[in-house]
Amino acid sequence: MIDMSAETMKNVPVHVSLIMDGNGRWAKERGQERVQGHFEGVESVHVCVQAAVKAGVKYLSIFAFSEENWNRPEAEVGSLMGLMVKAMATYMDELDREGVKFVVLGNRARLDDGLNRIIDSCMERTAHNDRLTFIIFLSYSGKWDILQAAKRMAVEILECPERRDEILDMDVNGFDRYLVTAGIPDPDLIVRTSGESRLSNYLLWQSAYTELLFVDTLWPDFREKDFNEALEAYAKRDRRYGKVK
Ligand code: FPP
Repeated sequence: MIDMSAETMKNVPVHVSLIMDGNGRWAKERGQERVQGHFEGVESVHVCVQAAVKAGVKYLSIFAFSEENWNRPEAEVGSLMGLMVKAMATYMDELDREGVKFVVLGNRARLDDGLNRIIDSCMERTAHNDRLTFIIFLSYSGKWDILQAAKRMAVEILECPERRDEILDMDVNGFDRYLVTAGIPDPDLIVRTSGESRLSNYLLWQSAYTELLFVDTLWPDFREKDFNEALEAYAKRDRRYGKVK
């Protein structure tokens, strides 16, 4: 049973993205190790995927690990990567059954081969699903994405100089196809938990007109009610895209 107003149901965002923050603080408040916050955070992810399916959101993405997060202590990085493997093993049957397409985007060259193989097999297995696309941004940063796009464009023009004019005539939509998010609509709503009000190098190009919502809840406490409240808040926003209404 979804407890949402008619206005919210009419204005469901196509793409919701979540910056999951506050796992460490959640654990510290309980006198636990930081990794306990990440464990509990996986359940919040699970719940949000279910809530997104119920609400009719078509794309749900999460910022699971940034390029900067590689600088965390080795043990924490290892635990987070281990959690990814465990979560895929635990939830892939359910995601597939519910028609969820599973996608991982980011600088995958930095992930180890075993993890990349499991990710590939989950992505292949669910590639035909179309109820919800669930994207995990892993080893991702917005500046990295824009830079890798620019490099790919530069290589294309070096290898094919006759394409120079086509590239000079390119508009912003043309550049979209070089980003790792090519083909995925820009997020309509980005929610960041834990009271921090910044994007932290997340989807920088793609968030040009995204509605931003900052909530105080720590990520492990962010559950279905919080997700639905975020949809309620989005439905009340007035999006003008720089135009006059
Ligand atoms: C931010 O909290 C959270 C992260 C850097 C990792 C988020 C990862 C998960 C919830 C688990 C992995 C995800 C999947 C899909 C298996 P923080 O550690 O920066 O918290 P703090 O700011 O309170 O220290």
